[in-house]
Amino acid sequence: MKEQDPVAAAARMLEQGGLVAFPTETVYGLGADAENPAAVAKIYAAKGRPMDHPVIVHIAPDASLDHWATDIPIEARELAAAFWPGPLTMILKRAPGIPDAVSGGQDTVGVRCPSHPVAIALLQAFKGGQGGLAAPSANKFGNVSPTTAQHVRDEFGADGTVGAVLDGGQSEVGIESTIVDLSRLATHGPVLLRPGHISAAAIAAVIDQEPAAPDVAAPRASGTLESHYAPHTPVAMQATAQLAQTLAQLQQNGRKVALVHYSDLPSAHAAVKLPATPEGFAHALYAALREMDHAGADVILVEAPPQDGAWMGVNDRLRRAAHGSTGIVHGLLNHDAPD
Ligand code: TXA
Ligand code: MG
Repeated sequence: MKEQDPVAAAARMLEQGGLVAFPTETVYGLGADAENPAAVAKIYAAKGRPMDHPVIVHIAPDASLDHWATDIPIEARELAAAFWPGPLTMILKRAPGIPDAVSGGQDTVGVRCPSHPVAIALLQAFKGGQGGLAAPSANKFGNVSPTTAQHVRDEFGADGTVGAVLDGGQSEVGIESTIVDLSRLATHGPVLLRPGHISAAAIAAVIDQEPAAPDVAAPRASGTLESHYAPHTPVAMQATAQLAQTLAQLQQNGRKVALVHYSDLPSAHAAVKLPATPEGFAHALYAALREMDHAGADVILVEAPPQDGAWMGVNDRLRRAAHGSTGIVHGLLNHDAPD
């Protein structure tokens, strides 16, 4: 008998209610049949994610958005035409018949069509291309998102909850999709729930309205929790001008420093130098944070990127990674290192 190809085998597993991790252009996703509440529940269990955090539904390029959403504004069609397949998630009013499970009980649904060829092949093989895959990032809740198949295996390795991990190489974009909420467009305008590779300016260029930052009453998004995407080692951001001095002081005080930087710097306990462009930095950021997290350092010191709009997604993720580590550099400098 001919070996079934891995994508077809994964699609059958998903149709039977299993979990499959698959590559997307942003990060790897942990997928389940979005219309099978028992399958979606397995995602929450595997991730350790609270049940009221909604997941994104991934659809094939030819699938119908109207199956998932209702009262779809023309702006959503325009954004889909401009950016799909690609790293944009739209929050829309949920169509009747779409289970509560995918939206954490909210009356909205997050939908995106990914551009990674393996993701598209999987979506086309799954339910004849007409289904949807609920897929959060394939990491334990709060951890750094995976950008390689190995990262996924590191997260879920031995526990047997993930039926298959499809390998599609390193994710090109490297940070999670931009999320724009269009579900209350008439009253609230477009709202940027999560910045990403597709910038607010790029969205504004298509729909003539700049998406605003969310207000406190905006729907809960786990990617918008203050502490998220965080390594286990404390993370501190440092401006380029202070970085060399802070590094020297920490090392004089016997501290092991893991550096994530883009300028030239003296050597540290461990370091990853990233490209000095927003695209290059985002592409390699999560792999760098994971690598530095395993370096046995006291702190991961990250060179703060510029503040302009193109860096918004990267700055957002770094701020969350560093949240909870406030004062770490000060603490390491003012207490003696253990022998
Ligand atoms: O790039 C991505 O979006 C990746 C890949 C796998 O596609 N997925 C991803 O999923 O980042 P996740 O679950 O880690 O983040 C999804 C975000 C969460 O912040 C969630 O709360 C929000 O999307 N979200 C999903 N549906 C929503 C809804 N109906 N209303 C508000 N936020 C929603
Ligand atoms: Mg996530």
